[in-house]
Amino acid sequence: MPGAIHAEGLVKTFGDVTALDGVDLDVPEGTVLGLLGPNGAGKTTTVRVLTTLLRPDSGTATVAGVDVLEHPNEVRRSIGLSGQFAAVDEYLTGRENLQMVGRLYQMRARAAKERAAELLDRFHLADAADRPARTYSGGMRRRLDLAAALVVAPPVMFMDEPTTGLDPRNRQALWDVIKELVSGGTTLLLTTQYLE
Ligand SMILES: Nc1ncnc2c1ncn2[C@@H]1O[C@H](COP(=O)(O)OP(=O)(O)OP(=O)(O)O)[C@@H](O)[C@H]1O
Ligand SMILES: [Mg+2]
Repeated sequence: MPGAIHAEGLVKTFGDVTALDGVDLDVPEGTVLGLLGPNGAGKTTTVRVLTTLLRPDSGTATVAGVDVLEHPNEVRRSIGLSGQFAAVDEYLTGRENLQMVGRLYQMRARAAKERAAELLDRFHLADAADRPARTYSGGMRRRLDLAAALVVAPPVMFMDEPTTGLDPRNRQALWDVIKELVSGGTTLLLTTQYLE
């Protein structure tokens, strides 16, 4: 039986650059796959194909049992994504950013508020929670973006270089949250430059 994330023969070229040259992967449900590779190896391109943001030239993929090319909208309902570059609303505070994500996922206002407070705490953002995100440092912005990806626990999560720019304490906080997610049954594909 194919795993929660399954890809066969993914090929993607950009002009004369072959970004993906026949990628196969299979991630069993409730496990973590780390994609490790040098700059330009095709990690982000792989994540973009699997999260329906980019169509491959050839190959097939399923996520949570759903065909990525045939039913992208259905796939989007089962996944969470934190991209390589932080995507936060600069004009909202950290707290408002997280509450907004909760509300977009149809959480009740009270539950969204509680989840936001919990994540702000875990990622050591409580002191800055009520400042607009545009005043955040690079690492703070990164942590807010990760927290936003973790507001709900979708069955399948993708994280593109989640540890980049994090200090050791916050890297540990991230690994702790990830362990909880995975022990709750989430399947995770992440990319990283860190061998450990
Ligand atoms: N939209 C694009 N247009 C042209 N070339 C692209 C595009 N996206 C990716 N590429 C090329 O495809 C190759 C793989 O890029 P990709 O971003 O997937 O690498 P990566 O493994 O994520 O690298 P990094 O570690 O630097 O994030 C690179 O040569 C890159 O220049
Ligand atoms: Mg990348």
